[in-house]
This record gives sequence, C-alpha cells and structure tokens, in this order.
Amino acid sequence: MDHFLYREGRLAAEEVPIERIAEALGTPFYCYAVATIERNFRVFSGAFGDTDPLICYAVKANSNIAVIATLARLGAGADVVSGGELKRALAAGVPASRIVFSGIGKTSDEMAAALKAGILQINVESESELDDLAAVAGELGRTAPVAIRVNPDVDARTHDKITTGKAENKFGIDWPRARAAFARAAEIPALKPVGLAVHIGSQVTESGPFRDAFARLAGMAAQLRADGLGVESLDLGGGLGIPYGDDPVLSPAEYAAAVASALGDLDCRLILEPGRVIVGNAGVLVTRVLSVKEGISRTFCVVDAAMNDLLRPTLYGARHAIVPVVEAAAGAVPKEMEVVGPVCETGDTFGVVPLPPALKPGDLLAIRTAGAYGAVQSSTYNARPLIPEVLVQGADFAVVRERITVDDMLAREPLPPWLGLRAVEVTGT
Ligand code: LLP
Repeated sequence: MDHFLYREGRLAAEEVPIERIAEALGTPFYCYAVATIERNFRVFSGAFGDTDPLICYAVKANSNIAVIATLARLGAGADVVSGGELKRALAAGVPASRIVFSGIGKTSDEMAAALKAGILQINVESESELDDLAAVAGELGRTAPVAIRVNPDVDARTHDKITTGKAENKFGIDWPRARAAFARAAEIPALKPVGLAVHIGSQVTESGPFRDAFARLAGMAAQLRADGLGVESLDLGGGLGIPYGDDPVLSPAEYAAAVASALGDLDCRLILEPGRVIVGNAGVLVTRVLSVKEGISRTFCVVDAAMNDLLRPTLYGARHAIVPVVEAAAGAVPKEMEVVGPVCETGDTFGVVPLPPALKPGDLLAIRTAGAYGAVQSSTYNARPLIPEVLVQGADFAVVRERITVDDMLAREPLPPWLGLRAVEVTGT
C-alpha cells in the first residue's frame, strides 16, 4: 500500500498532483511520500509487538536527510556504513545512542568519528578490524562497543550481487571463527563486545534463509554465554524484500514470525536494519517522454530519465512498474513499449511495459517503487546532473535536494596550468 494514487485521472503523491511538481521543477525528479514512509515504519515495527526491537533504518537505501529525519521523529535509529552516512544520520537528528555502524572497510577516521559521536555499536567484520578499532579507541582513550558480524554461510536466494551471507561473500567473520573472535575482543581492553550481527542479503523473499541465519546466530549467542561471555544484543540486519510487480514476498508479520521462531526464548535486545521495506514503495521517479520511436522489432519510448538516475534495472535486471501520470482513456488498449533513457548504452533501459497507445512527447511517466536504492545510486554519467528530490506531506511539497546544474559540475573541475587554458567560464543556465 502506498500514497501514489490517481485523483480524477491524474497521479498524485498524497494530495499533490505530480503534474504540479513537474511544472515547478522540471523533470526528471524523485518524489517521496511521507505518509508511505511513516506507514511502512509503523507496520514493520508493529509486527514485532512487545519485542520492541531497536529499528535502525538502513540509511544506504535512501540517505536524504529529510527522509532520515522523517523516520527519526518516529523513533528510528540508523544503520550507517560510512562517515558520510554517519554525518547524515546525526544531521537528521538520530541520537548517537541509536546508530550502528556496519560495513567491511571502515577507515581509522570513520572509526574515530563514530567513537567520538558515541554511537551504540560498531559491527566488526574481520579479526584485523578488531585490532584497528582497538588502536583507534586506545588513542582516543575510549572503549569501543563492538558487535561481531558473522558470515553464517546461508544462501539468501536473492540476486547474486546483493547476496551477502554465503562463505564466498566478503562480509562478516566466517561462522567457524566468529566465536573465537568474540572471545578475543573480550580480552582487548579498548573493546567491549556487546553482541552479534548478521545480514544475509537484500530483497529476500522467503523466510527459510532468515530462519536458518538467525537460528545460527542464536545458537552462537547461547554458546558464548555458556563460555561466560556477555551477549546483550543480536543485530539481524535488513533484507526483507518488497513487491516490484506481482511477485510474492514475505509480509513484515511473516518476517517477525521467522525471527521469533528462530530466536525462541533467547533473552537479547534485538536490533533490525530494514531499508528497502521502509522507503521502497514510498518513492517514484518522474520522467517526461521525449519521443516515441517505432522500431522494426518494438516501440521505444524515450524518456528524460536514464540509468544514471535509476541504476537498478541496468545493474540487477530489476523491473519497476511504470505508469502514465495522466490515466489512459477508458477502453484504450495498452501498447507494449520499451522505456529507454538517453544514455548511450543499450543497457540504459527501464524495461518493456504496457503504456497508453496515445502516449506522446511531453507526457509524464512515473517509475514506481523507486524510493530505495534510487537517488542514492545515481551518477553523473554522460555529464547528466543529479536530479532533485521532493518530499510530499499531505497537500505540501518541498524540494529536499536541489537539482545540480552542469555549471555546478564544471565549476568543480579546475584545469591544470600546463594545459594553458582559462578555467571554464560558467555561464549559468
Ligand atoms: N544492513 C546491512 C548491513 C546491509 O548491507 C543492508 C543492505 C541493509 C541492512 C539493508 O537492506 P534492505 O533492508 O534494504 O534490503 N542496491 C541494491 C541493494 C543493496 C543492499 C545493500 N545492503 C538494490 O538496489 O537492490
């Protein structure tokens, strides 16, 4: 359920017609609905009832400060994976005591920033990272709260590129070594091991892999406790998949049931790191039709958004539903068209979808379920500037990231003196 619905034949974000935003800002742009973000957060946290887990929103899914702040005011914490995301979470008002820092390659500067901010825990992914963190903490005269991220060697049965819990994946400390790593951390004075963590992948649509991974983690926590070591918390990562079309997925309630059955009566504070399920269907990418081109084998609908704006179809073969902003006339038989962007690569495609047969240049389309891993994965390939992001609440909308101009980009490219050229004149557009 989301808040992008037709009102009198025109697609609206909550109460704001998409056409109105397009008129004000031009296209393409991302548009997010506060009501959907809030609803998703409440449904997800509600599924856990009295368990009352700490929900650390995975900032990587959509790191716009206004989006994080929308969640922070509902009590969400944050899962961050870089110094940049840490800064964003803090700027959005997430209390440091609700921030966890994951990721396989943290620099000393990032570790120091996390320790100085006083975050809840740092999820450590290798034995050598334990030593690095101990050194940084020692220098700062602090004790680092640490969770050991375990690689449970469980296949999440999702896309290869977003599978993270198999032995051949780079993430976490291998299952057979994790117990010793926790014990070792307990012996290092600058570290305080507080828990275990796991994350097996993203867009996971079955409960089996979750159950297997969580049960392994729970078993290890019990063992460590039997060894006399304190395991206060279990961080179960993110990964819950969402529907992009008619594909079957797990509901938050089914996911919560998998958590409960795998953990049994283990008495541990739970941390969860959902990203996609919170913001995925809360965003659309709005784009304008540039031309409709009849080819021999198919009809192409060329739009002004491209793979640099939304990479998921190109990178993972993801298929997002695409709908016209003005509903097709009643009775019109939809026509299959391949929606493509202007980038000079055949991979710059959003897929073949049914669209109104009378679609013409200037018409607007909305690429749905683009709130997660959309804007955050965009680039300036083909010298295409980053596009604006808009947040809607009720009848109001606000630009929460401005459009970057080509001139902004050029101004950041000083020319070396040996080229003998004058710096590029910024003419303004
Ligand atoms: N925690 C950790 C440690 C993660 O690595 C991730 C995602 C999450 C939580 C959040 O997972 P979620 O609930 O959103 O599935 N760009 C890809 C997805 C990459 C996910 C990376 N890690 C895509 O567009 O499908």
